[in-house]
Amino acid sequence: MCGIFGYIGKDDPLKTCILGLEQLEYRGYDSTGIAGLVDGQIAVCKEVGKLSKLKEKLTLERLEIAIGHTRWATHGKVTPVNAHPHQDFQDSIALVHNGIIENYDALKDEMQKQGVRFQTETDTEVLTNLISKFYEGDLVAAVQKALSHVKGHFAFALLHKAHPGEIVVAARECPLSIGVDDERTESIISSDPNAFLGKKLNILFLRGDEIAKVERGKVSVFDKNLNPIAKKTERLDAGSGAPSKEGFEHFMLKEIHEQPSTIQKAYLGRFEDGLVQFESLSHDFRSASQVCFIGCGTSAHAGAIGALFLEDLAGIPSHYEIASEARYRLLPQNTLVVAISQSGETADTISAVREMKSRGFKVLGICNVKNSTLTRETDGCIFLKAGTEVSVCSTKAFTSQITVLYLFALYFSGKGNIDELKKIPAQIEKVLEQEPRIQHIAKKYSRYDNFFFMGRRYMFPTCMEAALKLKEISYVNANGYAAGELKHGPIALIDSNFPVIAFCANHQTEEKIVSNLQEVKARGAPILALAPEHLKGISKIADDVIWLPETTDPLSPFASTVAGQLFAYFVAKERGCDIDQPRNLAKSVTVE
Ligand code: AGP
Repeated sequence: MCGIFGYIGKDDPLKTCILGLEQLEYRGYDSTGIAGLVDGQIAVCKEVGKLSKLKEKLTLERLEIAIGHTRWATHGKVTPVNAHPHQDFQDSIALVHNGIIENYDALKDEMQKQGVRFQTETDTEVLTNLISKFYEGDLVAAVQKALSHVKGHFAFALLHKAHPGEIVVAARECPLSIGVDDERTESIISSDPNAFLGKKLNILFLRGDEIAKVERGKVSVFDKNLNPIAKKTERLDAGSGAPSKEGFEHFMLKEIHEQPSTIQKAYLGRFEDGLVQFESLSHDFRSASQVCFIGCGTSAHAGAIGALFLEDLAGIPSHYEIASEARYRLLPQNTLVVAISQSGETADTISAVREMKSRGFKVLGICNVKNSTLTRETDGCIFLKAGTEVSVCSTKAFTSQITVLYLFALYFSGKGNIDELKKIPAQIEKVLEQEPRIQHIAKKYSRYDNFFFMGRRYMFPTCMEAALKLKEISYVNANGYAAGELKHGPIALIDSNFPVIAFCANHQTEEKIVSNLQEVKARGAPILALAPEHLKGISKIADDVIWLPETTDPLSPFASTVAGQLFAYFVAKERGCDIDQPRNLAKSVTVE
């Protein structure tokens, strides 16, 4: 998975491509590369690492047209040779690709027998050579022939040295958008329409093996049989430019601090006259008799909390499924599927949505990014309004997701109020005030390499989320467990080098978790408890306590989550990790 960008037009293609890649780096930062045409020849520059590395070592000066790529490695190690753009064995084509060519090995074998030599371990080089093999003067026709041999899902853009004024693009399942200005002076290609650099463009999206020939201010689209098709264009709101850290050392810390306000934005204007109203929903989803939440990573954890809300506040049987597994599960008829994704581009979630829709289920999206794939493919979408989340480690999106999910449960129940919810921003301020203390505690725990996070009921998904934060940015082994489950095996791992982080804010189960804490204490575990103020006795068991404001059980995930985020942040900082862009990750995971 990766980000692809392309430019033909009045502006400098090289500079524009770099700006575009800056916006797409969230899709991967293992390597970056740009290719273009100069005087009928292909010029390429690529570097391992982030875009900043490419900028430092840029060997290109002037390009007539340009394509660019930011990579999250799938096939082949993170090396300069495996970085995109890739070229064919005749050095006529340069190609950038997002997705996976599933039958690349068989295609490679066949071409090797025909004498093609390969330089890389990538599936992309195979695709590039396949197109080159079919090229007989018409680039679009060559792409069409190649597509009929290719299995998998992808979006790609290529240029050919004999076609100086065109970039050819194609897409199957992976997102690809093309924008053209009103004056027809430029065309932009991007994996994400939000990376159109704030330009006002007429935008179209490619799907289902569609191929487009993109020229300056002009796009011709063809179906998989090469019939020309007229695509509808859309006018999207121009993005508001690059976000800034606003004085914080990292985007993650800035985004943690934004939460009192982003939570408010998620509920403000959505609860009037005792009823929840979501402004963007034209369809009423409440006839469902059960709800299945799907998502990945942090969004899956939000779904787990959403399922508890639906059951506790609205009495609707609900569960959550990890999106990559959900598509294989059977669901009762009349189940509403709620797909949660910050980015709206996560391939596992999008694939599950497509599968569920093909089986006739209604799918509601909960998403932060406008115009993303999820928002276009669901039957309705509720937006988080959290603003751009830059840090790969998701923080404010999660608390906005659970805010929206809380409202969603009230929407289903048709009753209730948000008085307690309105207190949450102030409670989070109280946790943020404890930042120096949490930093001090985190410093103490940063020397350990293994952690158990444990909690019950609302604190179970909350502790899984907190453990994910820690492992994602600190590279330490942290596992979230239902506290009752520890004694069924995992407790064997406990010793004085294996701290337990106990999430104790769920009143209903607090006596039980206190007993579980005694069990791990008896086996020597250092204990950090995150506990509500009334649970004074916990300080006799735990080595350290982060005190949290009192609230109801359903709302207990908020303050605990923020404390967990700060803990993970300061452990990562102490360990000298790359907090905003942790190794091996990408903000949006666009392959399955
Ligand atoms: C969270 O910190 C992670 N980076 C990751 O688990 C993320 O939540 C997951 O990849 C899903 O992303 P989405 O919400 O954009 O679909």
